[in-house]
Amino acid sequence: MNTNLTHSEPVAGQVHVTERDGVYTIFLGTEEERVVTLTSERVASLKQTVIELRDLKASAVIISGPRQDMFAAGADINAIQSITDPVVGEELGKEGQAIFQMIEDLPCTTIAAISGPCVGGGCELALACNFRLLSHHPSSQIGLPETKLGILPGWGGTQRLPRLIGIQKALQVILPGRTLRPKQAKSYGLVHEVVAPDDILERAEEIAQKKNLPSPIEISFLDWLLTYTRVGRFFVKRKSEAALQKETKGHYPAPPAALKAVLLGLEKGTKVGYEHEAAELGRLVVTPESRALVGLFFLTEGAKKLGKSARGELSNLRTTVIGAGTMGAGIAHVLAGKKFPVILKDTSPEALERGKEQITKSLAKKKHISSSDREALLSQITFTTDPEPNRLQEVQLVVEAIVENMEVKKSVLRKISEQVAENAIIASNTSSLSISEIASELPHPGRVVGMHFFNPVEKMPLVEIVRGKKTDDRTVVLIAALTTKLGKFPIVVEDVPGFLVNRILTPYLNEAGRLLADGYNGEEIDRAATAFGMPMGPLRLLDEVGLDVARHVSKIMSDGYGERMKNSGYVDKLVEQKMLGKKSGLGFYDYSEKKERIQPNLSELLGIDKQRTVGDRQAITDRLIMSLINEGLRCLDEGVAGTPGKEAAAQIDLGTVMGIGFPPFRGGLITYAQTLGPKNILQKLQHLEKEHGPHFRPHPGITSGAPQQAVRRGEN
Ligand code: NAI
Repeated sequence: MNTNLTHSEPVAGQVHVTERDGVYTIFLGTEEERVVTLTSERVASLKQTVIELRDLKASAVIISGPRQDMFAAGADINAIQSITDPVVGEELGKEGQAIFQMIEDLPCTTIAAISGPCVGGGCELALACNFRLLSHHPSSQIGLPETKLGILPGWGGTQRLPRLIGIQKALQVILPGRTLRPKQAKSYGLVHEVVAPDDILERAEEIAQKKNLPSPIEISFLDWLLTYTRVGRFFVKRKSEAALQKETKGHYPAPPAALKAVLLGLEKGTKVGYEHEAAELGRLVVTPESRALVGLFFLTEGAKKLGKSARGELSNLRTTVIGAGTMGAGIAHVLAGKKFPVILKDTSPEALERGKEQITKSLAKKKHISSSDREALLSQITFTTDPEPNRLQEVQLVVEAIVENMEVKKSVLRKISEQVAENAIIASNTSSLSISEIASELPHPGRVVGMHFFNPVEKMPLVEIVRGKKTDDRTVVLIAALTTKLGKFPIVVEDVPGFLVNRILTPYLNEAGRLLADGYNGEEIDRAATAFGMPMGPLRLLDEVGLDVARHVSKIMSDGYGERMKNSGYVDKLVEQKMLGKKSGLGFYDYSEKKERIQPNLSELLGIDKQRTVGDRQAITDRLIMSLINEGLRCLDEGVAGTPGKEAAAQIDLGTVMGIGFPPFRGGLITYAQTLGPKNILQKLQHLEKEHGPHFRPHPGITSGAPQQAVRRGEN
């Protein structure tokens, strides 16, 4: 050990160094640090260390994380969030660039020995080394997710990555903000070798001794042409710009900025490239889009912590899912994916067969899962019409996903509650029925809860945890822990009709019907929503959900809330004509061609003879979005999500982004309402009420104290 080094002892928040035979290993953190972020303190200690190693003429330098499950999680996002001046952002970029340049310039072999996450600034640090080894630890991943936070890789990533792996692959990582698993990272050329976690330091030392060096990363001739010739770059530029426009509709400034930085650096050299990269980091970091995305990042991190205290109780959790339909099969799939044994029960053998097929098909689409892992997952699920009673006794969680009928659900759950252990949790995936009522006739109602997954279960990131009148805290906490274990975000909501997501969504969907009734064209309506940033328009969404399902939910909503939630009747009209949306080939849209289009005779089918005379896209957007906002603020005031105050606003933001697809760059519904401001909201709603009727009446909380109260609640 060289005692002259300043950082030779492990200190939390800083790097430290060990030495063996002239090879120095920089550890980016201490073993006790759960997450290693590149805070200014850590970066300063790294800089000091690199200077000392340069002066010492080290023969090789290895950079490692503190543990097998942690390399570096990137820059300190709290610090990013606190920047309000673009100049400060630019300086942050320049500082990081300079340090990583010092690493690149070290006159010795440098090796990044990566195990665990290596993302953002961590990845840019690794890119400055001569060699990158990545372990196949389950937590290992490498990439540049900066655009997901509305910024670009600002510590040299836009310059080094394209030179390393070619512009095409680099853009596939940088523009969408991707991180890669070990196998993919190797095939992209982002790392030289994938090794076992236990062997990584040994292998790094071998390379440090210049033994058995990894083969250099080579890019194909085509990639070389695309990267280093003007014509090639022009082609990539055109293709990427078109793809970005299609994907982001111009709402996200970071990806085009990153594209420009990549192209400029290749065109004019790295000096210009680095300067531009840092300046763009400064510009982007203070944009509202970045603020919103960083805010959402913290919301998702917060949601992951829900139920943390109960995580230990999940080991050996045995489950049964009742109903092997669309939802039940999906739920069994995600449970088995996390190695929870599942008894999937249905009354119909055909349904079980279909459920199995659904899971097999969905697994087949996941290219990164090996066939043995697929088989292992399927073997966790017992498909049965008649489970063994002693196996049911061992079950600690029942998830019910049978037909949406109160009496049937009650009777099935009564029976199953007698078969499973007394303290087994009983979760219903109902999308619209009252959890309190479902629980009312069951023994120990404290263990009954709603666990509302969205369709398709494997893909949708949100789960509403519905707290019935008698649901106890342990039940909520355990289900929250399970939800995060399944890789999804939980929000805790009250047992009101539609819970949170469908309640906020309903007035918006209904408004689309009213717009049709006013003579607006269906495509125009949907286009206004997508131009605002929604992933699809309301009519297309209704078709996707299925018009029969939508009709059912809509009835529950108008029964629950009266006139305010009454729909235009168009969904019923289509259902009566056996048009159920996408699944039946016809709904508001016709799906017979490759690209769906609004049914040409839709007005006729719905009996609309009105021709629109006034109103433009903004008018449509206002009607749709103010419907969401009015109901969202109502939910905030009524405490439908989380607990009142910040948590409630955060949960509504998360629920609307993850459950409805409210545009992430707007930060969620309540955050967006805050940007509009209370006065503006009130004025708009009053105007809409005058023009279009009482369903736009600002909710009482808004008129009494203006929406300040409601909106402000989200602020503190
Ligand atoms: P589905 O109709 O596809 O499946 C229901 C399954 O339950 C069928 O396979 C049926 O054979 C089975 N079943 C009926 N009675 C049974 C019993 N006594 N014991 C065991 N199995 C029985 O329905 P889906 O769409 O999967 O919905 C299930 C539940 O999930 C409903 O409560 C629904 O409201 C809810 N939900 C549905 C969503 C969707 O988009 N489909 C989204 C979120 C929740």
